[in-house]
Amino acid sequence: MTASDRQLHLALFALPHGQLASSWRLPEVPAHSTNDFAEYREAARLIEEARFDAFFIADKLTIGSDGSWQYGPPVDAFEPFTLGGALAAVTDQLGVIATASTTYQHPYSIARQVLALDHLSQGRSGWNIVTSYSPDTTRQFGAKIPHDERYDIAEEAVDVVRQLWRSWDEDAVTWDREAGTYTRPGAVRPIDHHGHYFAVAGPGEYRRSVQGEPVRVQAGSSGRGMAFAAQHAEMIFTAQTTLESGVSFADDIRRQVRAAGRQESEVVIMPGFAFVVGSTDEEAQRVQEQLLDTVQPEHILGSIRDVTQIDLREYPIDGPVPTLPDPDTVQGHQSRLAVYKRIAETENLSLRDFARRVAAQRGHHQVVGSAERIADQMQAWFEHRAADGFNLMPHTIRGQLRAFTEHVVPILQQRGLFRREYTGTTLREHLGLPYRG
Ligand SMILES: Cc1cc2nc3c(=O)[nH]c(=O)nc-3n(C[C@H](O)[C@H](O)[C@H](O)COP(=O)(O)O)c2cc1C
Repeated sequence: MTASDRQLHLALFALPHGQLASSWRLPEVPAHSTNDFAEYREAARLIEEARFDAFFIADKLTIGSDGSWQYGPPVDAFEPFTLGGALAAVTDQLGVIATASTTYQHPYSIARQVLALDHLSQGRSGWNIVTSYSPDTTRQFGAKIPHDERYDIAEEAVDVVRQLWRSWDEDAVTWDREAGTYTRPGAVRPIDHHGHYFAVAGPGEYRRSVQGEPVRVQAGSSGRGMAFAAQHAEMIFTAQTTLESGVSFADDIRRQVRAAGRQESEVVIMPGFAFVVGSTDEEAQRVQEQLLDTVQPEHILGSIRDVTQIDLREYPIDGPVPTLPDPDTVQGHQSRLAVYKRIAETENLSLRDFARRVAAQRGHHQVVGSAERIADQMQAWFEHRAADGFNLMPHTIRGQLRAFTEHVVPILQQRGLFRREYTGTTLREHLGLPYRG
């Protein structure tokens, strides 16, 4: 594939009303709508009309236990597979990526949930493989497992899940009315897995999906996380704040993918992309400030407690950011801690401004400006191969996501960077990934 044949991919990192922690407080959001499926359906339809690749549903498996739910979403929303199934039913072409944790969810259950979603959507599902970095999650499930061991478990879990998916031959279902045999003899087989962490007899419960296997998605950024991604992921999410760090991450991942014996074309790299779009750069800046004024700093500082490892709410809000721990010494989200530590140490921000900064971009790249400026930045990342596409993180769904689909997508299309129509039906086809038979 030549560089000019490459097409950009777009996913929506969906949170109930947008990525901004205070988006639920905005007047355009109907009261009590966090658990109203109509909100999600509208977002999905909006991005399907704009020809996005996928709707991505994250999951931490908990709302924490320190009372921060009083500040609002992401709480009171839906768990990924129920929501994913409902979205599959109200869309025709959009991919649906749902999160399941290999640390706290059993691979047998994951295999059936993800493949069921793949059948319900007729080949449009993906599995975001997470190892659950948050102590909040640990508190719900009991077991505290060190960072690298969580990846050991994930290695085995992915192997079990894929064995279960492949335990039915592609032509296993014969539907032979005469003979009364539903499957061909020998075409559905136990897997008899006896590993270090799991013992699973198999077979899986369902036939192969139309895309062969659901798409595997992952977002590890530590050394161990990147090695895992290079080995197993087909779509890679990442948080990178600058073009330089994006290029360096992508080069490193592609090198590791080749070293793992895989083709670069088997992997799509999708950094998170936060933005505020306005009719001019100045207007976008004004909107950004107005939106950030609605954020409660204590909400943000509480919500990153599991990454920073210290409760920043205990420090004077107009004082300096206290020294954050060295990422290598923690068992949690090492890569995001490194991003926050760099921001805190190089930009000399007060704790209040640090909270605004985190609220604005959550450790991802952010562009505030006109639709042209946003399209220019996306194009630059794409052409420098820091990104094959983007996982979009709009502050709001009703305002900012809509503005992106109305103003930025047409520019990307005019520049020949983004599709005007879907050319395939499965998530694999949207992403240009090989069929997995
Ligand atoms: C875009 C994006 C989405 C993520 N979604 C989730 C999620 O839904 N649930 C979760 O537990 N972790 C999520 N993570 C965190 C990653 O799964 C992973 O734990 C994190 O990147 C730390 O990796 P590391 O331990 O290799 O540093 C996400 C990360 C990124 C960049």
